[in-house]
Amino acid sequence: MKRQTYYTTASEAMNELAKKGYTTDFEVLKEQDCLVCKQTAQQLSPDEFIIDETHRFDGETDPGDEMIVYAISSQKHSLKGIVVNGYGTYADPDIFKIVERLKQKSITKEKPIKRSEILKPLSREHHHALLLCWKIKNGLNKGVSPERIKKYADWFFKQHLLPHFDIEEKYVFIVLGDEHPMVKKAKGDHQHLIQLFTTDGNLEQKLQTIEETLQNHVRFEERTLFNEVQKYATESQLKDIETFHVEEKFEDNMADPFWV
Ligand SMILES: [Fe+2]
Ligand SMILES: [Fe+2]
Repeated sequence: MKRQTYYTTASEAMNELAKKGYTTDFEVLKEQDCLVCKQTAQQLSPDEFIIDETHRFDGETDPGDEMIVYAISSQKHSLKGIVVNGYGTYADPDIFKIVERLKQKSITKEKPIKRSEILKPLSREHHHALLLCWKIKNGLNKGVSPERIKKYADWFFKQHLLPHFDIEEKYVFIVLGDEHPMVKKAKGDHQHLIQLFTTDGNLEQKLQTIEETLQNHVRFEERTLFNEVQKYATESQLKDIETFHVEEKFEDNMADPFWV
């Protein structure tokens, strides 16, 4: 578990987490040592979720603002949501104890991701996609013109991203099937990215959205979707990925290295 972003208030954290897909309201069911979704009454046992982020807030003017916001995700149920607890004066000690205990359990269950050999070349392409995100961000921060950045991004899109999407859609997602929520999300991300790269509009805004969307998409595939794929892939499906995905040595386009 890691704390990824710093927020100044609990409501800012909840809004930003909602944008990242943490939209379910969970509460702790004390008697059964589990979380329950307020909207659907779906219960999650400690084996079925992990705590992705913890954010603590000190109420500077009002101790009533002292809060902890937990971002929770369940791969099994394809659910993401939050649990909120006061802390300090207003903490509910039972909730605090249970969440902390569940957190310990979930930490001991987290194992480092061991990527299947067959999926490793696609993971290396993800690494280059994350580098593109870094270059876009760095370029914009340095005041490089959006036109120069877009030229490089377009080269990467045609040369690397589109063939990568194609392989994933033809040979990787098929393992889980078109109706799987993770596949629906990944295909939706691909469409959104294609649209961002190929339509007109405010270039700087477009680049910022490409950077955020691509980064989130790659992290979702690496941390969630690929784990599920390697769990269920048959020998022949893995063989197809190996046969049809021809990994080429990455040769960067150094015509205009605006990021250095
Ligand atoms: Fe993808
Ligand atoms: Fe991918």
